[in-house]
Amino acid sequence: MPSKRVGVIGFPVEHSLSPIMHNAAFEALNMRDWHYDAMSIPPDILRLGLREPRDHGYIGINVTVPHKEAIMQYVRPDEKARAIGAVNTVDFRSNIGTNTDADGFIKDLRAHDVHIAGERALVLGAGGAARAAVYGLARAGAKVAIVNRTESRAEALVRHLRASAGIGGVDVKTLAEAADWGMSLIVNCTSVGLHPHIDQSPWIQDLPFPAGITVYDMVYRPANTALMRQCVAHGGRAIGGLGMLARQGAIAFELWTGVAPPIDLMQRVLQEAL
Ligand code: ATR
Repeated sequence: MPSKRVGVIGFPVEHSLSPIMHNAAFEALNMRDWHYDAMSIPPDILRLGLREPRDHGYIGINVTVPHKEAIMQYVRPDEKARAIGAVNTVDFRSNIGTNTDADGFIKDLRAHDVHIAGERALVLGAGGAARAAVYGLARAGAKVAIVNRTESRAEALVRHLRASAGIGGVDVKTLAEAADWGMSLIVNCTSVGLHPHIDQSPWIQDLPFPAGITVYDMVYRPANTALMRQCVAHGGRAIGGLGMLARQGAIAFELWTGVAPPIDLMQRVLQEAL
C-alpha cells in the first residue's frame, strides 16, 4: 500500500491522463511508496469533497475542470494562481494553490528553442488557457497582443492581469490588425480545432502568416491541428501542446516529491494514451 498519495480532482475525471503520466514516472524512478489517482468530486460538494484527500493524508492534488476557479476559496492561491485566475496544483502541507500551466508552457517553448524575450507574441483566445499564456509570455519578456472572438473578454483579461500581477502593455487586436503586427509567435489558446472538429482553425483561411512564424497550439488532440497544417503550408513552424501537458504535470510532480521526473517518458506515455 503506497504511503505517499497524490491525485487529481475533477468532474468528470475518468478521462484524465494525469494518473498514467505520474504513475509511469513513479515507476521509472522506483518510487514505490508513491501513487497518483483520480477522484471524482461533484461541484456542489467541492468543499466537503476536499476533506477526503486531506483526511487521508494526501500530499497534494491536481485540480481540473470544473474546480480550478472554485477551489481558490479553500486554499491559499499564490501570485501565479491569482493572475491566471485558476489553481491546478495544491500542496496540502502548506495549503498553497498554484498554477503550473504558464511555467509548463514557457518551459516547452524553451525546450523547442523558441525565443521569447523581446519578441512579439500573439495569443488567440481569452479563457483560462489564454490567461496562463499571456502571463507566462509577459513575465518572460515578450510583447503580447490578444485576439478573441469576444473582444470584451480579451479586454477583461488585460484588466485582470494588470490588477492582479501588474502586467501592462498587452494589446487587444482584431485578427486582421494582428496579421501585420510582425509577431514571431502565435499561440492558440482557443478550443477551435479540438477533436472532433479537426478541420476548424482559429486563423482565417487565406490570411497570410508572417515570415518566420512559429505557431504553438495548446490543443494536443489531434496532434497535428488544422492551424498547425495551415502554418506549415505557409512555410512556418508548428508545435503541438503535448509537451506543455507533460511539463505542467512535471512541475507539480517536483513540487510534491522534490524529484524531477523524466519528461520524455511522461510525454511518451501521454502520446500512447492518446
Ligand atoms: P479555457 O479555460 O480552457 O481556455 P474557455 O474559457 O472556455 O476555456 O475559453 C475558450 C476560448 O476559445 C475562448 O477564447 C473562446 O472564445 P470566446 O471568449 O469568444 O467564447 C474560444 N472559442 C471557443 N470556440 C470558438 C469558436 N468557434 N471560434 C472562435 N473562438 C472560439
